[in-house]
Amino acid sequence: MSLDTQFLCTILIFFLTSSTSLASRSNGNNLTAYEVLEEYDFPVGLLPKGVLSYELNKSTGEFSVYLNGSCTYSIDSYELKYKSKITGVISTDKLKSLSGIKVKVLFLWLSIVEVVKDDDELEFSVGIASADFPVSNFDESPTCGCGFDCETLRRKKNKIKTSMPKMLSAY
Ligand SMILES: *[C@@H]1O[C@H](CO)[C@@H](O)[C@H](O)[C@H]1NC(C)=O
Ligand SMILES: *[C@@H]1O[C@H](CO)[C@@H](O)[C@H](O)[C@H]1NC(C)=O
Ligand SMILES: *[C@@H]1O[C@H](CO)[C@@H](O)[C@H](O)[C@H]1NC(C)=O
Repeated sequence: MSLDTQFLCTILIFFLTSSTSLASRSNGNNLTAYEVLEEYDFPVGLLPKGVLSYELNKSTGEFSVYLNGSCTYSIDSYELKYKSKITGVISTDKLKSLSGIKVKVLFLWLSIVEVVKDDDELEFSVGIASADFPVSNFDESPTCGCGFDCETLRRKKNKIKTSMPKMLSAY
């Protein structure tokens, strides 16, 4: 092993160990609701900005999330409405028994009861129908009111246009 290689290894090990300690530091008992989503392999954007608190029963996956008031925003042609309290059961790649999130389809507000992550797709189910969205649409949390269009208008607009979801098939 040449001196250069040794040096590089030392640097590498330094970075590896320091990033591990960073990771374990944010892995404490009290994660944010957004970090909890990530622990279960979901993108943070499933929750809008403005989560005040949450409760999670780690053994059953039952949770409640409290937002600062109700929240409405649009993703592409869909309007979504979050109540100030959202409940459900979370497990890796699956949210079920959801309550508090609705999507407007035509003129109806339908409850989203289940969200399943399948690779890079998120399937939102309203019971009788479902729609798939690319996970990348949810990399960031939307802002209540203006959704994804507020701050990053130019960038997001293109992104959402090119990744338009399939229409709800039952409608
Ligand atoms: C983290 O836990 C500590 C001690 O239980 C608590 O004082 C603090 O408010 C918590 N932080 C968050 C962000 O929940
Ligand atoms: C989690 O749920 C189980 C079953 O309902 C219950 O026995 C347990 O006390 C709960 N734990 C917490 C921390 O709420
Ligand atoms: C909750 O919303 C109100 C009104 O929009 C705002 O004034 C307040 O600062 C928010 N509270 C928190 C903790 O974000």
